[in-house]
Amino acid sequence: MKKECCETKPSTIAIDGPAASGKSTIGAIVADRLAYVWLDTGIMYRAVACEALETGVSIDDEKAVTQLAEKLDVDVLPATVNDGRQFDVLINNKDRTWEIRSNEVNGSVSEVSVYPGVRVAMTELQRKIASKGDIVVLGRDIGTVVLPNADLKIYLDASIEVRAQRRLLEELARANQLDLQKTIEMLRHRDVIDSSREHAPLKAADDAILINTDNLTIDEVVDKILKIVQNWTKKEAN
Ligand code: DC
Repeated sequence: MKKECCETKPSTIAIDGPAASGKSTIGAIVADRLAYVWLDTGIMYRAVACEALETGVSIDDEKAVTQLAEKLDVDVLPATVNDGRQFDVLINNKDRTWEIRSNEVNGSVSEVSVYPGVRVAMTELQRKIASKGDIVVLGRDIGTVVLPNADLKIYLDASIEVRAQRRLLEELARANQLDLQKTIEMLRHRDVIDSSREHAPLKAADDAILINTDNLTIDEVVDKILKIVQNWTKKEAN
């Protein structure tokens, strides 16, 4: 009998993984190749931390940080400045593209993302954006909490040494002084907070496809994901 189903491509693709596992770079390329929208949810949590630091709201003040998150306006737009950026990040209409990557934000973002109220506000926004489909969503809890019914779930992982090397190269390219040992310590600190928090911890969904990127180039990971997309078939609903 002829199958009636016509869905041959996953419309919502969740890519989760720890800090510096390559999600942002790889997710952006995959989205581009599929002509899908791309949503990096880490930018949203970074925006909350960045705005708190910029406006003098204490990172420890859960109520004030949550209120700030509920009102936050974050836009990711095509780059308007030729300074190595991939895109512009506007927070409440101000260009904060580089500020969200600062050491201060790196040091506080995991703390703000522990707050349940911040997560509720961000999750709501992420689901709304993803509901239009044809989207690649990157984060920590996309396959488990934000989009548990995503058509395809990928979990990218890499050892802490490899991730630290990659992060260090990025920082040095931006003339930020950092050494490998310090980078490993910072990533370890973020891993612990991200994976041990009570609400929506970093975790691979049971039905996620795991890819370890330790010995793979960016192109190899992209190719792997695009092959998985090509071979994807919609599961029959029970
Ligand atoms: O992917 P990234 O390094 O830009 O993410 C920054 C932080 O945001 C990360 O330490 C944890 C938090 N985050 C989160 O809690 N949930 C997400 N879906 C995405 C990021």
